[in-house]
Amino acid sequence: MDILKTQLDLGLVQPIRILQVSDCHLSGCCEEDSEKAKAKSKKKTAEFLKETGGVTQEQRLKEALDLSAEYDALVFTGDMADSPSRANLELLASMLEGRRYLYTFGNHDYYTYDSDNGNADDREHFLDDFLRFLPCDPTMDSLQVGGVNLVALDDSLAQFSALQLEFLKAEAAKGLPILLYLHLPVYSPTFVPQAYEWWDSSMCVGTPADVLAAHGEIDPKMRAEAETLLMLDYIHEEPLIKAIFASHLHFSDESNVLGKPQFVNKPCYLGSAREILIK
Ligand SMILES: [Fe+2]
Ligand SMILES: [Fe+2]
Repeated sequence: MDILKTQLDLGLVQPIRILQVSDCHLSGCCEEDSEKAKAKSKKKTAEFLKETGGVTQEQRLKEALDLSAEYDALVFTGDMADSPSRANLELLASMLEGRRYLYTFGNHDYYTYDSDNGNADDREHFLDDFLRFLPCDPTMDSLQVGGVNLVALDDSLAQFSALQLEFLKAEAAKGLPILLYLHLPVYSPTFVPQAYEWWDSSMCVGTPADVLAAHGEIDPKMRAEAETLLMLDYIHEEPLIKAIFASHLHFSDESNVLGKPQFVNKPCYLGSAREILIK
């Protein structure tokens, strides 16, 4: 695998290593799925195989999981499924069984091939399905490892909630240094031009209104709401939050946002993951 490497110095007595995996985009389906969903699954799977030169998403995930045994923690930052079919959720559940990990939703984890959409209602609906298969909370969760608090927040609809802000404050009250794991990165001018070029969207949370207007952004959800702005202010001001790790762009980026270093991961289906060494 192509492992991106990041090192952070937090003054730990014993160094730890974390593996971040994202964007596996499992695209399988099962007999019970609609004809439309099956056709879309077939088309997407063919597109992914063309891009990878014939390596399946499942093979790539297996490679990442085999590698994860060498690490102190495993964090998934979303889009592990391209769509939440029973086939994909069962595959994920069987491959992750018995492992300890953190998982945050990506927009594709609740994107339905039937509607070609993934909105807040879909997220609500598929959260129940997800929880039946995977024993973690993909909306907000934390994992403490070796004196560091890994916190994952779902920002896959480009917004944060008041509940997530309360959760993050409670995590900060534990007093440990925090690494924040998101699906969408926080706005940075370093990647937004390429994001518009590739995806016709800013692909991030907290994009300034003038940047959205300059790119002719038509998606109203990309404009940060009041609760999202409060979260971004809090991340900026909380010194225990040491770095942000995101994905979603499908290309890597390193920048400084809200006074913290931010690292964007490359997709697992292309054979990539990120190693974070904390000293
Ligand atoms: Fe993705
Ligand atoms: Fe995504």
